Amino acid sequence: MFEKFGAVDTYINQLFIGDDQLMATVEKAIADSGIPQISVSANQGKFLHVMARLTQAKKILEVGTLGGYSTIWMARALPPGGKLITLEVDDRHADVARRNFALAGLTERIGIRLGKAVDTMPQLQSEAPFDMIFIDADKPPYAEYFQLALKLSRKGTLIIADNVIREGKVIDAASGDDMVKGVARFNAALSATKGVTATIIQTVGAKDHDGMAIVVVD
Ligand SMILES: C[S@@+](CC[C@H](N)C(=O)[O-])C[C@H]1O[C@@H](n2cnc3c(N)ncnc32)[C@H](O)[C@@H]1O
Repeated sequence: MFEKFGAVDTYINQLFIGDDQLMATVEKAIADSGIPQISVSANQGKFLHVMARLTQAKKILEVGTLGGYSTIWMARALPPGGKLITLEVDDRHADVARRNFALAGLTERIGIRLGKAVDTMPQLQSEAPFDMIFIDADKPPYAEYFQLALKLSRKGTLIIADNVIREGKVIDAASGDDMVKGVARFNAALSATKGVTATIIQTVGAKDHDGMAIVVVD
């Protein structure tokens, strides 16, 4: 079945991404750098781009940069004068991302803040509110990242959190996996949060079976 999901992703990519030389070059630079190959898929990157356009985002925050693949998809949706801040704990990942931002001609639009996101997020208050926030870092503190994201939001801010289904393992209450436990705790906290409207969309395709939580701040 997963083979078919991958083939359908290729079909969608051919229709809606086509021959995007920049993203192909960025993807190759990430692969060649030796950092983990856990960027969002091309189709998910395009989805984030569409969401940024839909919300007419001028200020975007990303938690978890890696090589900057999702960052570039979102930053390309910014209008002139728009800004994206992305948070990363690993110097090596940040170096790869910086090179990719330069390659994309987006250095002026993107700022990387190095450090643990639980420490860097509270430092962003003067740059808030953000129009869109994408959470895609380590999974155990997702509930904390969400609380911090709410403090950086306004009415109408779109918050997207990736990898919250984990091949369905999230419904196993006995799971001993810290990543599964982290997203399960986040999903439960999100469902109990007043002042937001939210759901989770399951995702399949080149990146197997997972899900994205989609949240609008009321
Ligand atoms: C799944 S990858 C991000 C992928 C990226 N958003 C993309 O799709 O192109 C997660 C990233 O979060 C970073 N990370 C892990 N723990 C972190 C923390 N405590 N604070 C900030 N970043 C962290 C990792 O080093 C890694 O680069």
